[in-house]
Amino acid sequence: MSENKAPQRPLRVIAVASGKGGVGKTSLTVNLGITAAKAGRKVLIIDADLGLANAEILLGIKPQFHLGHLLNEEMPIDHVLGTGPHNVRILAAGSGVQQLTQLSTEDQMRLISAFDPLEDQFDTILIDVSAGIGDNVLFFAGAAQETLLVVAPEPTSLTDAYATVKVLSQQAGVQHFNVVVNAAPHEAAARDIFQKLTMVTSRFLNAHVNYYGFVPRDDDVRRAILSQKPFVDLYPNCPAARAVATLYTNLLDRPAPNNLDGGLKFLWQRVLRESTTMAN
Ligand SMILES: Nc1ncnc2c1ncn2[C@@H]1O[C@H](COP(=O)(O)OP(=O)(O)O)[C@@H](O)[C@H]1O
Ligand SMILES: [Mg+2]
Repeated sequence: MSENKAPQRPLRVIAVASGKGGVGKTSLTVNLGITAAKAGRKVLIIDADLGLANAEILLGIKPQFHLGHLLNEEMPIDHVLGTGPHNVRILAAGSGVQQLTQLSTEDQMRLISAFDPLEDQFDTILIDVSAGIGDNVLFFAGAAQETLLVVAPEPTSLTDAYATVKVLSQQAGVQHFNVVVNAAPHEAAARDIFQKLTMVTSRFLNAHVNYYGFVPRDDDVRRAILSQKPFVDLYPNCPAARAVATLYTNLLDRPAPNNLDGGLKFLWQRVLRESTTMAN
């Protein structure tokens, strides 16, 4: 790609992870992405969550192609991406996710060059990784520059979140976790659950776990999902949408926390390097 066609903003690559499914990770990723796009950012959502209600469903779109088509049929990347509201683009991982672990060196090089154009096209990449600590979570969270950890205010979510921090910090080199407590009844409950998490992480793990904010329990979230529209569009003034706006400001409307020389190449080279290491 041409060296002088730099994007306006430095690329931010953020993985959104959770300990268990059903905590609102996909809904948060999608609505954060839409909020960012409305604020003028160029957003790509990589849907690597193989769960049921995926990002495409929440946005009411049906991308025709996925990562597998990129790998197997050498389709141009732009062709593979779906387009959602506010021009948010979606890369559905589909069955391609599992394939990442088994690529030949030749395929790896092909994939890296296929992703080249994206560096100029986007300034924000949000990766909705699968819940828990499977292989693809390690790849994507390990490859991103930042990790959001979505936690729900219930004991099982906490223990699973702890396990995720443990595995990602020990096996994927993730050192900083930005915790968002989702579907909390109020801020005090969110802070309480965060405190419980840091009590164990600070005692047993070598990872930095920061409180990033909370999204309240809000029936409009569920209603928006049923309508297959982002709640920040459908109910822009609902409490959850206001919380996501604050989250956006804290996360993306300021410079990245450190000067990581990241980028999508970095992302994929690292993904592939780790996948090769793991496959060996
Ligand atoms: N802030 C919230 N308030 C109320 N319900 C929520 C909230 N966030 C998520 N939900 C509910 O949780 C369900 C699971 O959300 P989803 O984003 O699919 O979770 P995950 O991706 O973690 O599996 C949604 O169908 C929605 O009804
Ligand atoms: Mg999900």
